[in-house]
Amino acid sequence: MSGAMAKAAVRPVAIKADPPTTHRSDDWKATRTSHRPGFLLPVVFTVPQPHPMDVFRVNGSRPLRGTVHTSGAKNAALPLFAAALLSDETVTIENVPDLSDIRFMAEIMRHIGADVERSDANTWKVHARKLTNHAPYELVRKMRASVCLMGPLIDRLRSAVVSLPGGCVIGPRPIDLHLKGFSGLGCGVSIEGGYVHLDARHLHGADLFLGGRHGSTALGTANILMAAVLAPGTTRIESAACEPEVVDLCRLLRAMGARIDGIGSHALVVEGVERLHGATHRVISDRIEAGTFLIAGAITGGDVTVEGARASDLAALLDKLRECGVPIESPAPDCVRVRADRPHSRKAIDVITMPHPGFATDLQAQMCALMAVTPGLSIITEKVFPNRFMHVPELQRMGADIAIEGPSAIIKGLSRLSGAPVMASDLRASAALVLAALAAHGESWIQRVYHIDRGYERIDLRLKRLGAAIERLPADQMPKHLDGEPG
Ligand code: EPZ
Repeated sequence: MSGAMAKAAVRPVAIKADPPTTHRSDDWKATRTSHRPGFLLPVVFTVPQPHPMDVFRVNGSRPLRGTVHTSGAKNAALPLFAAALLSDETVTIENVPDLSDIRFMAEIMRHIGADVERSDANTWKVHARKLTNHAPYELVRKMRASVCLMGPLIDRLRSAVVSLPGGCVIGPRPIDLHLKGFSGLGCGVSIEGGYVHLDARHLHGADLFLGGRHGSTALGTANILMAAVLAPGTTRIESAACEPEVVDLCRLLRAMGARIDGIGSHALVVEGVERLHGATHRVISDRIEAGTFLIAGAITGGDVTVEGARASDLAALLDKLRECGVPIESPAPDCVRVRADRPHSRKAIDVITMPHPGFATDLQAQMCALMAVTPGLSIITEKVFPNRFMHVPELQRMGADIAIEGPSAIIKGLSRLSGAPVMASDLRASAALVLAALAAHGESWIQRVYHIDRGYERIDLRLKRLGAAIERLPADQMPKHLDGEPG
């Protein structure tokens, strides 16, 4: 067998299939077996996958040090996957984070007929030759973002039957603005049996206002934008969301041939076109993940550099970290460094979450953890999801002094927290518990970390590389008397 063939023979093959989630190994494994001397068998790489019932054991109060690189943004990748359905040609999406939510989205898209292939750990190819218009409850309920399949389906099939997403622990998450937008674009909209039925035979461009009680809507803007790009005529979307993830979606749509103006502003103008073609797109880096690592550096008194963190996307967070006294450097446009290992004194501040460019609601819980160990009285007000305080009772278990008054957390900063067994409830709440455990004295056990695996690619391994004493363990290794699981 020639050198070239031998090389071809050892190309990894396992990554093509979405890796199963139950597999347990904590390290890259390479197996090489040969029953004939000198004959190389294909090297199979198994991507280590978290187990749904894993727990984290964390020993805190160690300053983090080092550099971490951000993954692609989950909240950009999900609408980008949906946008790939707008063309019957192949769309390649690179820098996709390796997360359970992404695999869910691929599963739903295959269910409606698209070919969705993973060509390596972070690259996916979507080819939606033919589609069906029905997205069932049992899939949609697993992940809200699948509501943004509605836009592409009505464009390709002029109809869609998509399950309503159902409840969410962070609070009420209606999709009335999405439906108002579709109705404005000439769709017939009805809800029957828990499903949204959209009839788009008379789809057309229109002037729309998408602002709601809590400001603009990110996925709502994405959904309507995707419907408008193939709708005959001109669509103006006022009070559109301008999150970096929405801007990233506009970039892909333009690369596919869409005509969109006002990108990055609250006013988008879309000229409908006949069809869209294939494209290749690289997902932007995850500003929420970057912000979480920056707060991890601040809360542990460490020196952490976050590569891929675009200061422009993090302006509100960096402004608040500076205001509370955390030394911040920006060595490059896409790199931010926390120098909390330098002498500095942190002080209490007030934070109000808002749609972008305001302070991100997805960093609110992590900021609560930081303020819980910052001297003085802080008030953190949640204006986007007013009930989003599931992390507070768990932080109180670690000794935090926090009171909830309506949409605000009133935080009396303490000199330290103590390690405790705690339970994650949702993605960002679990990130806050990990940060609090990294700062706390003693040992913490964090259960239901599957929540964090939905939005952070192997956060345990990356924190470990920054010097954190964190371990991912099977749930049965948690001392029984600490186990908070019911029954
Ligand atoms: C996106 O959710 C993100 N999810 C959320 O991140 C993020 O918290 C949120 O935007 C706000 O930034 C994804 O991108 C997958 P919204 P989305 O519509 O689009 C109300 C995470 O942790 N609203 O911008 O669903 C809504 O109830 C997740 O990664 C209506 O009233 O949020 C909320 O109060 C959690 N009617 C506000 O608007 C609607 O039709 C903003 O929600 C739609 C929204």
